[in-house]
Amino acid sequence: MSFVVAHASDLHVSEFGDTFHDRLRVVKRSTNPANPDLVRWEVAWEEAGWRVLHERGKRRGRIALLDPDGYAHPTPSLGKGGGVIDPVERAAAKACRLEARRAATLARHVPRPAALRTLFEASPRNSNLRLLRAAAAIEEAAPDAVVLTGDLTDDGAGWELVEAAFAKWKEKGRLFAVPGNHDLYLFPMRGSGRPRPTHATKRDAWRAFAGRIGLELHPTGGWWKLVPEGDLALVGLDSCARPQRRFYRHNGAVGQEQLEFLREVGKRPEFKAARHKLVLLHHHVVPLPHGIGRRAPSEIGMRLDDARSAAEVFDEVGVTAVLHGHRHVSEQRQPAGTNFTIFASPSLTLGCRSGDDPSFWRIELDKNAHASRVRVAVEAIEQDEDPTESTVSSVVESAVELLGGGESSADLGDEDE
Ligand SMILES: [Fe+2]
Ligand SMILES: [Fe+2]
Repeated sequence: MSFVVAHASDLHVSEFGDTFHDRLRVVKRSTNPANPDLVRWEVAWEEAGWRVLHERGKRRGRIALLDPDGYAHPTPSLGKGGGVIDPVERAAAKACRLEARRAATLARHVPRPAALRTLFEASPRNSNLRLLRAAAAIEEAAPDAVVLTGDLTDDGAGWELVEAAFAKWKEKGRLFAVPGNHDLYLFPMRGSGRPRPTHATKRDAWRAFAGRIGLELHPTGGWWKLVPEGDLALVGLDSCARPQRRFYRHNGAVGQEQLEFLREVGKRPEFKAARHKLVLLHHHVVPLPHGIGRRAPSEIGMRLDDARSAAEVFDEVGVTAVLHGHRHVSEQRQPAGTNFTIFASPSLTLGCRSGDDPSFWRIELDKNAHASRVRVAVEAIEQDEDPTESTVSSVVESAVELLGGGESSADLGDEDE
């Protein structure tokens, strides 16, 4: 009997299912919760904590839309409102659309296949919905364990949806994960997450998630587990263990302390005895091209700074396979001069940079390891590079402020979702 591991990566879930990689569709919200003056505004519609406000005493007064946390969203114009004449109804329809795709909502009641199909057809680029579609494909591949190699979230929010999507493996203690740069590092542009994350809130959210799925983090950020039925030892490494760099901000490093942790684990008899020794980390250890005949893309602000010393320790302790994500490229290779195999997983939700559909690795472990690429029947999304200092988007920075809650008093404009 073989033991099957599904290796997926880069889920990029978020509060509403929008991602930095698909920048034009970032859901705009005000920076701070709005504090509406209820002398001027009246509640015209309210459901599940969402409110549509209308200016009192004015037949054609302004409309405002507030989410359950009190942040203001732009209201749809007549042209973008699907032909609905009443502006309150248009705003309420938008609230329902967003609420149905919220990570927390989807996690609370994971939609059945038919409902998920309907939601997906209406918003096929939504990463939260894409994750649920992909999780169904993983379930079909019947893995004994699911391994996720970072960028589980787009900006540190939506962890509960990852747990819900892989609940089956979480409950059995067979869901394993490491964090990625999106989970722990900060971006210069605004996503839809509110309040804006900090390094501390992001790290706390990752640690809490790791605890809930049963991982005991070593002070260096690493963890390790034995899976006896798979004759398998797993080591998770945090490739964002050091504070974020001021330049090349999304470069990672495993760090000397964590490599020492790996060396120590490597000396343990039960680790040595395991036939399969898998290391999980987010950043890539060798540059990856986006397909045959294509050059490996620039690694500025993306690379693993200590890849060489990490690879040395991998071989020193007899690692059989290294599983990573980050580049959104699907590839299996055995790098020259090393003894381990590399599995690079693309984004399970957005797809592969080659243009190939989203996929994951189904790795069968018995005497040997055999892997097959399993595609998810969802089209890839054309992806932006990770946003860097030089690509701060004015589109997203023009976030909305209203009702005295923001730093600026700019009005809520029409939306351009
Ligand atoms: Fe990613
Ligand atoms: Fe990444």
